[in-house]
Amino acid sequence: MTKISSIRIKLLIMVNAIITSVAALRVIFMPGAHHYTEALGLAIPDISISVFNKHIAVEELITFAAILLITSISMIFFSRYITKPVGILQDTAKKIMEGDYSARTNIKSNDEIGLLARDFDRMADSIENLGKGTAGTIASLSHEIKTPLNVIFSSVQLIDIYRDNLDTVEYKKKVPFQINLIRQNCYRMLRLINNLLDICRHDSGYLKAKLVNYDIVELAREITLSVTKYAESKGINLVFESSLESQVIACDPDMIERILLNLISNAVKFTDKNGTIKVMLAKDNDNVLLTVKDTGVGIPESKLNRIFDIFNRDENLVRNKEGTGLGLYLVKAFVEAHGGKISVKSRENVGSEFCVMLPIKVLDQSVFLSVHESQEGYRHITSYNGVQRVHIEFSDIYSGFEKESGVK
Ligand SMILES: Nc1ncnc2c1ncn2[C@@H]1O[C@H](COP(=O)(O)OP(=O)(O)OP(=O)(O)O)[C@@H](O)[C@H]1O
Ligand SMILES: [Mg+2]
Repeated sequence: MTKISSIRIKLLIMVNAIITSVAALRVIFMPGAHHYTEALGLAIPDISISVFNKHIAVEELITFAAILLITSISMIFFSRYITKPVGILQDTAKKIMEGDYSARTNIKSNDEIGLLARDFDRMADSIENLGKGTAGTIASLSHEIKTPLNVIFSSVQLIDIYRDNLDTVEYKKKVPFQINLIRQNCYRMLRLINNLLDICRHDSGYLKAKLVNYDIVELAREITLSVTKYAESKGINLVFESSLESQVIACDPDMIERILLNLISNAVKFTDKNGTIKVMLAKDNDNVLLTVKDTGVGIPESKLNRIFDIFNRDENLVRNKEGTGLGLYLVKAFVEAHGGKISVKSRENVGSEFCVMLPIKVLDQSVFLSVHESQEGYRHITSYNGVQRVHIEFSDIYSGFEKESGVK
């Protein structure tokens, strides 16, 4: 038996001891009990019945009084032993209910109360962490929503001022810049809201890949090409390499696009001028490997194992770059929705390599045919057109004023 049930054992031992001592005393002082006691080897003097009866009366009285005293003392001690920690538990619960989430029982005993108290303290830890997490999340999301909203609001106010104070030529010159700023910040908000909606879908189990048979090589090449010019405008060389001519797999082209654009946008964000980003495709047994490798700042080893966690952004590392820390969490969710896996290798000041492994599976012919009928490609499957998608996914790095971005 473990230490955990010690209150029950203590109670049992105590009751047992009282019953045994009362029973023993009754047996020892019972008339004629000396036959039994002798048989048991106990030396009780052989005295006359009348003396014996008196003796019994006094002895039993004293003994019962002693037992009563001992029992009462032990009951008081025992009830204190139970009520004290219960009182602490009650006080702590009250403090937590009143908003002091740091309150703990700190009861360390090994009985049931101790066990309950430890569980209670653990629950209080969770409540405290949840409170901190929720407050932090709301604060960072509010900031992310407020920043683009402020920009939009200032631009609208400026346009109003221009309209009242500038002539037509000046007005026409200055307004497009502000409109661009408004559009760019709308994209930022759209990206954040899309990401949040997808995170809600994922966390509640409703994020499902809409699978169609698609040539992943063509898809990855097309997506990479759509942002090559933009990378070049930042002085970064973005190249696509594939050891496969073509490979049809069942995938959700919209999700693949977001996976790739997220990984490329991170690579661009954390790679300096004259760096290189490679998007590579290869086959490994029954999987397609899609790799995005950069020569950027890299990720410290201590951060690598938490890189796919939600709100994983480390302010010490991001060097004033935009972002919310939702991107990689969602990328992992999209990859897993395909039954795939994502991994990362990185060395500080050398670069990072994100590798997505997607199983090579195809849907039955009827599904393939129904998609194949709309020959014009995946852009028709996505809810945004391709250009808009790049604007949205790159909104944290794309300012909207790059001349040679190719994403007009
Ligand atoms: N290619 C990379 N090179 C260096 N660090 C990276 C790279 N990709 C991601 N990281 C690190 O991982 C963090 C999390 O990336 P993630 O894409 O989830 O968030 P984010 O880019 O900061 O914000 P979001 O994508 O939600 O706008 C980044 O803030 C950065 O510190
Ligand atoms: Mg990102």
